[in-house]
Amino acid sequence: MKKTPSSASLLLAWYRKYGRDLPWRHTRDPYPILVSEMMLQQTQVERGLLFYNRWIKCFPNWKTLSKATNAQVVRAWSGLGYNRRALALRDIAKHVNKNGLPQTEEEWKQLKGIGPYTAAAISAFAQKKRTMPIDTNIRRVLGRLLLEIPYPQLSDDKILEHKIDSFLPTRGHYFDVPQALFDLATLICTKTPSCNKCPLRSSCKVSTAFLSGKIEIPKATIKKPKEKTHRNKPYPDRIYRGRILKLVKEHPKGLSFKNLGLLIDPLFNLVLDQDWLSGMIERLQQERFLKRTKTKIFLSD
Ligand code: ADE
Repeated sequence: MKKTPSSASLLLAWYRKYGRDLPWRHTRDPYPILVSEMMLQQTQVERGLLFYNRWIKCFPNWKTLSKATNAQVVRAWSGLGYNRRALALRDIAKHVNKNGLPQTEEEWKQLKGIGPYTAAAISAFAQKKRTMPIDTNIRRVLGRLLLEIPYPQLSDDKILEHKIDSFLPTRGHYFDVPQALFDLATLICTKTPSCNKCPLRSSCKVSTAFLSGKIEIPKATIKKPKEKTHRNKPYPDRIYRGRILKLVKEHPKGLSFKNLGLLIDPLFNLVLDQDWLSGMIERLQQERFLKRTKTKIFLSD
């Protein structure tokens, strides 16, 4: 008797036909794969591609990146946000250059800047390990398929992990399953999914509920983490920190403190906002983005 194909093999067949052709999928070299994964945590694939190509041109391998200064990496990362990740990536390059490549997911996780998601992604894609990076997209697809929850939350990951082991094939291209899930999440299993086009429809109970219109689509499924914000400022500190760094980049000979407050915020209050500004500059110094003299700040190198 003919065996019914597993969900994973249906998914892989769909991926071979409809999967996106992305540069980091043509290699098993951990360097470009790590670059892509760190970038894609902050931006969507279409935009990520531009940054990825620019970065790989500037720093084609671990060695070139390991020699880059803070200013060079921050500049090449500019526009992606969370500049700390760029510095972490350079420090990882230094580590790899000196000590060689981590060989296990656990070893990847020991590196600063690499959390469980990135460690699993690089282990699967570069080292063909049988593991699953769980990001928002994969959580949504697998939560629907394996837990029958229409809008799974972060807190469902532990139960999801138990189910993933029997979902992942033990042979063949199991390391492509997460890539296929990214694409299914983006192209079909979106917040409001197109279940009628889904290759996994026959084994996904939630699809029946979606197709019959029984599921109410929540307005916001993800609660944004509360960001640090000063007084009555309209934006979180992250935005003003970005403005400071942009201005400093535009002044390679040093940016004077004078008027800096007003340059980042037209409503800057010389009495109430001075400590806030000094605090942000101090933190940017501690995080190695800036250095300073008595009157000026510079990008640190
Ligand atoms: N999101 C995170 N990693 C990805 C990848 N490798 N391909 C597409 N989307 C992703």
